[in-house]
Amino acid sequence: MSILVLLGPPGSGKGTQAKLLAEKLTIPHISLGDVLREEVRKGSEIGLRAKEFMNAGRLVPDELTIELTRQRISQPDCQKGIIVDGFPRSEAQATAFDQMLEELKLNLDKVIYFEVDEDQVVERLGGRRSCKVCGAVFHVKFNRPKVAGLCDSCGAELYQRVDDQEKAIRTRFEVYAKQTKPLIDRYQAKKKLVTVNVAGSIDDVFQKLVAVIKDGSDKN
Ligand code: AP5
Ligand code: MG
Repeated sequence: MSILVLLGPPGSGKGTQAKLLAEKLTIPHISLGDVLREEVRKGSEIGLRAKEFMNAGRLVPDELTIELTRQRISQPDCQKGIIVDGFPRSEAQATAFDQMLEELKLNLDKVIYFEVDEDQVVERLGGRRSCKVCGAVFHVKFNRPKVAGLCDSCGAELYQRVDDQEKAIRTRFEVYAKQTKPLIDRYQAKKKLVTVNVAGSIDDVFQKLVAVIKDGSDKN
């Protein structure tokens, strides 16, 4: 069973790699950002509360994100393992996550830290295009859709996320540095942290991740 957490700055490729890993390991990918964007799209009460925080690049209140994660990981399809992308992002979320895993008798396998320079992620975020309907993620230079502006998977129109504008990107980096990056120490102390340099191509990074995950499961 693999419970893997992907931790890293905005645009480091967590979502891209989580999708590939989920396919390879045949376990669900849980992206809190995707879950929240879906709530915004539906116009639900949660979505209405979350929207202004997300657009500004700030963290959505813990009570919402913790509850959404708890509900999702309690589903039976998570018993075999999960890839969690974008949670926890604060000390309070990390403490709540420990508690929910214990309650559900799930064991955290690894926290994979995506290490990369800020310059590189700014370029990744600036060229990102996401599908309005299925959420698939592309890049105008590094991961081009077959037909410009349209999703390879479902054919719907691609769009640029509101929080990929310069001001929100800057806030997201600040929030990451202040609230999320300190979790590296927490998981290092628990001997759960593995660092992967994610500066290479999507395929190179994927190969590195597969090696790191395999390496750990051999030892366990
Ligand atoms: P979320 O959607 O999780 O945003 P994020 O953490 O800022 O991360 P991104 O999704 O922007 O980047 P990514 O690392 O997934 O990169 P991607 O694979 O897309 O969260 C959004 C918001 O929701 C938050 O700001 C907050 O408001 C709220 N939220 C979410 N979780 C929360 C929580 N726990 N608590 C509170 N609030 C929360 O890749 C980026 C681009 O680069 C793509 O175009 C991709 O094609 C390209 N790319 C990927 N890898 C490579 C590569 N190796 N080489 C070249 N290009 C690459
Ligand atoms: Mg993402």
